[in-house]
This record gives sequence, structure tokens and C-alpha cells, in this order.
Amino acid sequence: MRRQERLRLLGILRDGMANGGAVHGEGVVESPLSDFTCPDLLAEEQRVFFRETPLFMGLSADLPENGSYWADSETGLPILMTRDDAGEFRAFANTCRHRGAQVVPEGRGNGPRFSCPFHAWTYSNRGDLIAVNRAERFGDFDKAGRGLIELPCAEKYGMLWVRPTPGDEIDVDAALAGLEDDMAHWELPEHSYGASQIIPANVNWKLAVDTFGENYHFDVLHRETLANDIRGNLQTHDTFGSNYRMVFASIPGFAEANAKEPNIENWPFRRLTLSVYFIYPNTIFLVDGAAVDVVRIFPDGNSTRKSKTAHSFYVRPQVRAYFEDPEFPERRYEDRFEGFNNVVVNEDYKMAESTQRCAETGIQSHVLFGRNEPALLHYHNAHRRGLGRPLLEAR
Ligand code: FES
Ligand SMILES: [Fe+2]
Repeated sequence: MRRQERLRLLGILRDGMANGGAVHGEGVVESPLSDFTCPDLLAEEQRVFFRETPLFMGLSADLPENGSYWADSETGLPILMTRDDAGEFRAFANTCRHRGAQVVPEGRGNGPRFSCPFHAWTYSNRGDLIAVNRAERFGDFDKAGRGLIELPCAEKYGMLWVRPTPGDEIDVDAALAGLEDDMAHWELPEHSYGASQIIPANVNWKLAVDTFGENYHFDVLHRETLANDIRGNLQTHDTFGSNYRMVFASIPGFAEANAKEPNIENWPFRRLTLSVYFIYPNTIFLVDGAAVDVVRIFPDGNSTRKSKTAHSFYVRPQVRAYFEDPEFPERRYEDRFEGFNNVVVNEDYKMAESTQRCAETGIQSHVLFGRNEPALLHYHNAHRRGLGRPLLEAR
């Protein structure tokens, strides 16, 4: 994000802190609750969003060195990501070419080759089939054509992208659609891996995405938690193709900056704000002063009412030094989950589960997005556009 842009956003937030801030939507929008309950729609979403669309998976720090690997099946297709011996990022369908078993169990590690747990066929981290157990008994075939199936992948700005279907290369800049400056600015390659968790929830995956789509609710639902840190009902609003960015103001940060430094040009943007990105089609990307969070939200199997949230966070170098100080062995990266889960799991997802239950009763067909909830309209229309469905419109 360029300096002028940071100053523009800080100016909006500083003025908003003083006078309440603007609303950005054109009007109130009706959105059908059947979007959270329709099995045919979910099947279409699975095919288009989770197989055919490039997905933002994580950061370069997920594969910190040559030989690192990460096996992740949240898209529905087991995916093996590696950093090969030359340092290149690669992605494969994590399924054996012998009888189709998953080769590498879920998780992360380091190793130059992978042996299938079924009959011990072995693959390199470039995907080549390098050994067939008791090959003389198995019989002849062309090993060269039986490597792991390669998936399109790309690494840029410290982001890892994969499309879970073989085919054309991924154009990361096209997927970012104008967010390239932002991503370059956050110095993502300098961040190191913190920790990961998977959050199962009894909500449609889009309803889970929606919980990150406005801060109208902060002073109510989060009055005991987040509302102490982040100013509710105040956000910036910018769209980048199907992606979205809103920036929130840190209450203690702005108070301190206002008291200490009259010139906004000297304000430290990252320490004063929480930037919340929607990266199409399923990822929320959060940037605060200490870390970035990648929150990838998926349907859980073929259920319209279940989702899985794969949450990883990555820390700035100074924060890593704090956590890895040998004098303080009690400091744990995982402790960050406590604050996150107090808000997202105990408050947001709990509320979303009640919406899901209501949606399934059919008692009301539509709900409303306000002018102060513009991201929701953007998310829903980005998904509708992706599937060629009619767009929602403000009344
Ligand atoms: S299925 Fe992998 S070695 Fe047989
Ligand atoms: Fe929330």
C-alpha cells in the first residue's frame, strides 16, 4: 500500500473517530437465506470456487526452507505443497498413482521424499515417482508418466496460491486485482509461521465468511471483547475486483497518536489499524501490528450447514523474538488463539449458527444488508458473479 493511500485511510479513520464516519452502501439490500441452505448451490460452489479458482493458501513461511512440505485437504482435494531442493514452490494432488491412497498425512514437515503408507511407492519433492516397492514383482510400466499429479501454483509477495485442478498457470496479480501494492507493502516474506488451528462450525461456509464482513456489531456482540480495542461502526471501504478491503481503527492506538503526534504523516499505520481483506473466493486476511492471520473458510464435505475454518497466523520478526526468547519458555504462539477464539468462535460463529438454524426453518426468505455493511453485498455479489447468478441490488 503506497504512502498516499495509507494517509488517505488514516485521514478517514481519524475524522471518523471524531464524527462517527461515513456509510458506504447505496441502500438496503435483500439477500436470500436459501443461499445458505441450497445443496445444488453448494455443489456448484464446490466445483467453481474450490476446484477451478486459484486459492490463497498461506504464506511463504508455510514452507520455510528447501525440503519443507505441507499437506492440506481443506479444499476437498488432498493437496501436497512442497519447496523442492531448488527452493521452488510446487503443489500436487496428494494421491498415490498406484491405488490412489493419500501419500502424505495432513501436516507439515521437512523431508526430500515421500513414501506411500499403503505399498511404499516413493515420490520426490518434485513429484517424481522414484521407487516402486518390489518393482520386479509388480510388473513393467512407464514410471516417468506416473509422478504425482501437478497442480498450478504460484508464490508472489510472500503468498502461496494453488488451483486444485491441473491446467493453466496462476496469475497472482490478476487474482489480487489491484491489491498488489498492499501485499508488497506488508513485507509478507519477512513473517514467520506462528501456529494453525481448524475450527469446525455448524454454519454454511459463506455465513462464516459474512461474520468478518462488518463492524456494525462490534459494540453489541463484542462489547466485552473486541469493542475495547477496535472502534465499531467505523471502516474504510475499497473494492479490488472480487476482493475487498476495509480498515478499522485501534481505539488505544488512535488515542495515543492523537495525544502524541499532531502530524498524521508520522503516524504508524500498521500499529494503529486492523486491515481486513476478503480475498476471493474464501479467505479473510487480517493485518495488525504484530501479525497477519490467514483465515480460509471451506464447506465441510457436502453439508450446506457445516464449515471448516483453517486459521494460521504469521508473525513479524520482532514478535518472533518475543516468543522465542529462551528466558521466557512459557510464551507460546498458540496463546494468540485464545483472544481470536473468544471473539470468532464464542461470539461470531455462535451468532452465525443461530442464523443458520433460522435459515433452515424457512420462516423468513430474505435478510437485509444495510448501507453500513457494504462488504456483505460485495462478498455475495462476487460469489454470484463467479457462478453467473443474478446480482443482489440495493433497493
Ligand atoms: S496406493 Fe500408494 S503405494 Fe499402493
Ligand atoms: Fe465479529
